[in-house]
Amino acid sequence: MIIDSIPGDKSISHRAIIIGSLVTGTTTFKGFLCSDDCLQTLEIFKQLGVEISRFGSTIMVNGVGVKGLKKPQQPLYVGNSGTGIRLISGVLAALPFESTINGDESIQNRPMQRIIDPLSSMGASIQSTNFTPPLIVKGTPNLKSNWRYEMPVASAQVKSSILLAAAAAGQTVTVIEPEPCRDHTERMLTLFGADIKSSNGKIELTSTKLTPVSYDIQIPGDISSALFFICYALMTKQAYQFKNIGLNPSRIGCLNLLQAMGAQLEVIQKEGAYEPMGEIHVKPSPNLKNIDVPLDLVPNLIDELPILAILASTLDGTLRVRGAEELRVKESDRIAGICRLIQAMGGEIIEYSDGFNVKQQTGNVHDFSFDAHFDHRLAMSAFIAAKVHQVQANVIGKDSIPTSFPNFFEILKSVN
Ligand code: S3P
Repeated sequence: MIIDSIPGDKSISHRAIIIGSLVTGTTTFKGFLCSDDCLQTLEIFKQLGVEISRFGSTIMVNGVGVKGLKKPQQPLYVGNSGTGIRLISGVLAALPFESTINGDESIQNRPMQRIIDPLSSMGASIQSTNFTPPLIVKGTPNLKSNWRYEMPVASAQVKSSILLAAAAAGQTVTVIEPEPCRDHTERMLTLFGADIKSSNGKIELTSTKLTPVSYDIQIPGDISSALFFICYALMTKQAYQFKNIGLNPSRIGCLNLLQAMGAQLEVIQKEGAYEPMGEIHVKPSPNLKNIDVPLDLVPNLIDELPILAILASTLDGTLRVRGAEELRVKESDRIAGICRLIQAMGGEIIEYSDGFNVKQQTGNVHDFSFDAHFDHRLAMSAFIAAKVHQVQANVIGKDSIPTSFPNFFEILKSVN
């Protein structure tokens, strides 16, 4: 089976709109993820005065440059997107006006101190109640120059918020990350002409001059979305090929883990792109078994743990996950959610404050009900589990799925 319709990468699609808006000139992006989350980011930049047109998954961003961005007439609304609110707040921190940014109920409970602290130290003023949205951001183009920040949490959203604030203000900055986290912002800023050096967890933005890119920029398929069907292929012992998938080394922790578990995967990377992309071939893997997840891989596969837990519940041994406390503050408390899902299926799982142990399920899985707490990745994991075990799942909160994977059900229907 060949799957070539995995939608565009969510992280890169947000950055396409944001960085495309900061450049003066038109950029065309192909393969944009037309999901609720990314479309909210698109609407926000329209509110800030950027003309953006969309034809299917091709978008044309008529960037107005930082100075062309206008004070919005209404509060900005990110929907369910943590990436949206944290990255866009970085840009707002460098703009010479006050704006309010907010999101849905889940966003209003997500921690924002991690961006409020650094952006305030850089010179912006951000008001909130208990460090949660709505955020009232009073920006200034005079953010500190040569500023240096050591991030207390390994977060690509925090790193990106700071880099975007500095890029929008035309200032240099150094960010130190405690563990490597995804580097899509660095790659896209570099593509548009910024100078960024990155080595051993030190990211230095030294020149922020952004220039237009005249050719079409291809956004690869989202590996986090592909993984639902990679795991499906492994659980049903079928051969699948996935085309046009993002293979950024800071995103393929899930593939490294699967290979360490004994999965037979062939990864074929195309050369020369600003973001590595290519094909993933999955083969039936009779020796697949659970292992302890290496701690240093955890930040690199944090979004993928819900579906990996479902896979683990079908394999010999125990999958042990620790060092994943960040899962508690994602779209929902995902450690609790994963435990509720495995239990709803009749399986065994032990919950820890920073992870879980999941074992092979011995009894049969029957029809089950599960409340995904409006968390797209938990909802999709439940549907994949139901399809593998050929049972019905009543999933409350399945309306969250289009936040990242609008054609999930279409692909799910097409697989055997
Ligand atoms: C993202 C970073 C990750 C990830 C999220 C998307 C991004 O969060 O979980 O889904 O696009 O920068 P962290 O900020 O915790 O790294």
